[in-house]
Amino acid sequence: MGKLLTFILLGLVFASTAESRDYKSCKQKIPYSAINCRKHIAYLTDFGGKGDGIASNTAAFKAAFHNLSKVASDGGALLVVPPGKWLTGSFNLASHFTLYIHQKAVILASQDELDYPLIDPLPPYGSGREAPGKRFSSLIVGTNLTDVVVTGGNGTIDGQGEIWWKKFKAKKLKHTRPYLIEILHSTHVQISDLTLTNSPSWHVHPTYCTNVIIERLTILAPIDVPNTDGINPDSCTDTRIRDSYVISGDDCIAVKSGWDQYGIKYGKPTQRLSIRDFTCISPDSAVIALGSEMSGGIRDVRAEGIRALNSQSGVRIKTGVGRGGYVKDIYVRDVEMDTMKYVFWMNGDYGSHPDPGFDPKALPEITNINYRDMVAKNVKIVGALSGIKGDAFTNICMSNVTVAEEEKDGGSLFGKEKETKLPWNCTDVRGVSSKVTPKACPELVEKEVDCAFPTDTLAIDKVKLNQCFVNV
Ligand SMILES: *[C@@H]1O[C@H](CO)[C@@H](O)[C@H](O)[C@H]1NC(C)=O
Ligand SMILES: *[C@@H]1O[C@H](CO)[C@@H](O)[C@H](O)[C@H]1NC(C)=O
Ligand SMILES: *[C@@H]1O[C@H](CO)[C@@H](O)[C@H](O)[C@H]1NC(C)=O
Ligand SMILES: *[C@@H]1O[C@H](CO)[C@@H](O)[C@H](O)[C@H]1NC(C)=O
Ligand SMILES: *[C@@H]1O[C@H](CO)[C@@H](O)[C@H](O)[C@H]1NC(C)=O
Repeated sequence: MGKLLTFILLGLVFASTAESRDYKSCKQKIPYSAINCRKHIAYLTDFGGKGDGIASNTAAFKAAFHNLSKVASDGGALLVVPPGKWLTGSFNLASHFTLYIHQKAVILASQDELDYPLIDPLPPYGSGREAPGKRFSSLIVGTNLTDVVVTGGNGTIDGQGEIWWKKFKAKKLKHTRPYLIEILHSTHVQISDLTLTNSPSWHVHPTYCTNVIIERLTILAPIDVPNTDGINPDSCTDTRIRDSYVISGDDCIAVKSGWDQYGIKYGKPTQRLSIRDFTCISPDSAVIALGSEMSGGIRDVRAEGIRALNSQSGVRIKTGVGRGGYVKDIYVRDVEMDTMKYVFWMNGDYGSHPDPGFDPKALPEITNINYRDMVAKNVKIVGALSGIKGDAFTNICMSNVTVAEEEKDGGSLFGKEKETKLPWNCTDVRGVSSKVTPKACPELVEKEVDCAFPTDTLAIDKVKLNQCFVNV
């Protein structure tokens, strides 16, 4: 009996070690969250991919998308980028498709301009943003797609932007720089669970899209390089950005909709944008910028649970004469800031035109801008709000806002924060303020009020992701 028991126990031990050895040598089933799970799965290595950081995988990505788009109508496909370093030039995504980047995988962007085919500028930006004429394709491109996911186990996409930043600063680029991920004219888009770093320019650029979910992104760029914005929703309807963290040399989020006469003509707003639980470090720019290119309009933006550290400004409005369009129905609450140059900053004199052909009579409408429940410390300037002469920014509301002065060495005396001595500076703006410390400028008339924040929930905020599994 004793012998038999020992025998059985030994057998169990052997069986379980054999099993775990087997399990480790095999792929592991890992959960991930997505708008849709996929029926088919393939690995970049199936298409000749090499993860050595040296070989180019552009052809492997192209072959994979060509092959996998055939099963789009049969439950869709997922392409795994396995552990390794995968150098590649620009490539295109497909519909009913998921690109899954393994936790230990890094997609490395080629530093060769020839790996980014030249394409036409976006119509609402006139002849181009950084240079007239064609622009470089982005690293990862999606055009006219439906149901497309770029996700992973927090895998990395590294734009290797140094060479682009240097050429840009030296004015040696003949075309607008590539973005890291650009999705155009698409619906049901998800970009999540990734680390994005060192883009040549903006990191994530959803443009003319509807139903966009951006979640759990970590975006990291040096704080002293040009235009490495985090996430730039551009003329999109129904977008949510959640649980993300950006350190950047430019705005962490920049909401856009086209530039002057070209944007006015295209006329496509960014609307119903929800931002929640977002953290930003942007010493030279804004946590959330509205504009400056806002000529197609920006409306119904809701931002809450915003944390900022060492940033130039909070939720900032940038516009000017010639822009036309509007920024309206903006709601911001639950904001915590530490070490800021400005808490509130609005500029009606931003300048920057695509060409001299802008219409000086095209004035933007800036109205119904609401900020509430904010604390900020170590601040230089509380509010610099400058509207446009003859075109005041109206219905600005601020309530329950407490701002503490810049800390001198050693912090504030006896833990008691002194009132800031730096003034507000308001011109051509109108609105109300309530429980704002230090007291707001007289243009924001004191009135007992809680600034508005919508009580309904946007449809995009109600979308629940499915739990899917992938063998990686
Ligand atoms: C490409 O797709 C076909 C089915 O259409 C399949 O038989 C083939 O194995 C695929 N090629 C690769 C390299 O996976
Ligand atoms: C994508 O759709 C837009 C708008 O419908 C159209 O103008 C454009 O030609 C399409 N692009 C491609 C590559 O199919
Ligand atoms: C993802 O990776 C980045 C970079 O290593 C790290 O800072 C971040 O905390 C990670 N995020 C998650 C959700 O694991
Ligand atoms: C005022 O704002 C703080 C956060 O900044 C919040 O904790 C508090 O509940 C708010 N007070 C009221 C009365 O809403
Ligand atoms: C206040 O703002 C106006 C308009 O932007 C500007 O001209 C002026 O210099 C500012 N004043 C101070 C003291 O910063």
